[in-house]
Amino acid sequence: MQKQITGNYTYEVFETANALNKADLDVLNAAKHSVLNAYAPYSGFNVGAAALLDDGTIVTGNNQENAAYPSGLCAERVAVFYASAQHPTKKVIAIAISATSKHQKINIPVPPCGACRQALAEYEIKFETPIRLIMSGEDGEVFISPSVSNLLPLLFSSKNLGK
Ligand code: THU
Repeated sequence: MQKQITGNYTYEVFETANALNKADLDVLNAAKHSVLNAYAPYSGFNVGAAALLDDGTIVTGNNQENAAYPSGLCAERVAVFYASAQHPTKKVIAIAISATSKHQKINIPVPPCGACRQALAEYEIKFETPIRLIMSGEDGEVFISPSVSNLLPLLFSSKNLGK
């Protein structure tokens, strides 16, 4: 072995959403509202996401499931793709996530899945600006990561394509 690379990651833990600052709480509330429009008849797990853009615009999305299961899409990607489709020049500066389930109370914060981390990281790289990730259940603790790449070491990017 020539050398070993070791990483590190960090996120803040807040006891409840009441402890958040107003800017974070506004995005989180938009995500919570968006949960109500999720289409998740197969999993019963309703997820809402809200993307805060650099001019204060908030774009929301929610998970959209499909009878052909892999054809569905997570809330975070619906939100960020919609944001990029509608506002391609506005930086994404924060994403909030919340969820409810018809099976149980969700009081553990919902982190973005691996595929969503990859999709979100693309916009961090595009805009050279970290995306603050605000992760919440329907109640209880809230986790905040200062960026997406913080939660995605050794990510595949345009650099790997030689771009
Ligand atoms: N899901 C999201 O929308 N975001 C996440 O961060 C985790 C999972 C969706 C995908 C699927 O519709 C349901 O939640 C159960 O996995």
